[in-house]
Amino acid sequence: MNKCAILGGKPVREEPIPWMSTMGKEESEAVLDVMKSGVLSSFLANSGDQFLGGPRVRQIEEDFCKRFGSKHAISVNSATTALHTAVAACGIGPGDEVLVSPYTMVASASAILMNCAVPIFVDIDPDTYTINPDEIEKWITPHTKAILTVNIFGLPSNLPRIMDIAKKHNLFVIEDNAQSPGATINGSEAGTIADIGVFSLNYHKIIHSGEGGIILTNNDELARMCQLIRNHGEVALDEENDMEAVVLGNNIRMSELHAAVGIEQLKKLDHFLSERRILAQKIDKGLNERIGLKAAYVPKGYTHSYYVYPIQFDAEKWGISRGAFARAMEKEGFPLGVGYVKPIYLMNLYKHKRVFNQTTYPFKFIEKPTQDYKKGLCPVVEAMHYEKLLTADICRYPFKENDIDDFFTAIDKIWEERKDIGLTIKE
Ligand SMILES: Cc1ncc(COP(=O)(O)O)c(C=O)c1O
Repeated sequence: MNKCAILGGKPVREEPIPWMSTMGKEESEAVLDVMKSGVLSSFLANSGDQFLGGPRVRQIEEDFCKRFGSKHAISVNSATTALHTAVAACGIGPGDEVLVSPYTMVASASAILMNCAVPIFVDIDPDTYTINPDEIEKWITPHTKAILTVNIFGLPSNLPRIMDIAKKHNLFVIEDNAQSPGATINGSEAGTIADIGVFSLNYHKIIHSGEGGIILTNNDELARMCQLIRNHGEVALDEENDMEAVVLGNNIRMSELHAAVGIEQLKKLDHFLSERRILAQKIDKGLNERIGLKAAYVPKGYTHSYYVYPIQFDAEKWGISRGAFARAMEKEGFPLGVGYVKPIYLMNLYKHKRVFNQTTYPFKFIEKPTQDYKKGLCPVVEAMHYEKLLTADICRYPFKENDIDDFFTAIDKIWEERKDIGLTIKE
């Protein structure tokens, strides 16, 4: 019998999981052109023409507007700073609350704290892993100013319902679309459906420039605020002699080098997406044919970008624990993510409400806390994180369909031999 690698047999996949660059000669030549021009950045923090940066920065913004059908794009140096800027542009600050998913990369929530507002965590839908619209209204208080919804793993949030709720309560909606460029709802691009949307160009995103971020909005006022916050806006406003307008800016500008790379990567986005979607279809089919492994759910009218592929593991059906399954898969050459980022409200910073030095700032601005950041707050997130969710990073270049075949060979091997090799449901 073909013994599992755990017993010393040959693993299905012997090579390590590759991290292959998606950079081509186009990106190299674009960078070289910038170097030859000598203009590596062109921003100046005053109200003149250079306030909006140099030619590549303007080009990437124009290209994002065209590709995603947005009126404005503002390039910045990361999605983290983009989120911080988007929250600030909405006029959110001390005394305000923002509803956010607890199942996301920490930047989605820290952008709220960095503006001295308070994150309020809303449980997720167990199929989509995005904020559950049914859970939103119970957390809305007079302090609530916005919903920051995260399009996680490549799937857009339920934005049609979120936008309706926001309209009813007069809230801004911010889309953290770092993981889902090119995903759509009924043809509308994720990242452009809410008031303001954020994209990431960090090195492990679907397209990237090493580091970088893009903000999209159709709202002229929000766009102007983002441009000001990006580039020490207080200087420009003073020069314009606008004594009423106040803005605290920063330097979160994108360099010409990063913009040059991002321009070339954006041209390749649709190709990368179509490759990911071909692999995803094969993974969907394989999972649907097997017991105790739930495929990624894509609601009707939605498309997915498959930044990572989420799988739900049913320990009862397998008779072994999720951890044991993941360890066995790793031995077979297919490491899996066990859960995702720990539910954010369980991280020390939140649990102890200690953000800035020893004070209770910014929580002290709200007399009666709306939420206790403790275990049990969002049961669906906790079940996904601690019991069910696995993430597979095989839905990307350079994986090919035969790698997906091997992935399922490994799964089937573990299924067949799980009892023989002593895997149990106990961790
Ligand atoms: C959902 C989400 N939001 C924000 C970020 C932050 O992106 P960046 O690294 O560009 O700051 C990430 C990065 O992993 C992310 O996955």
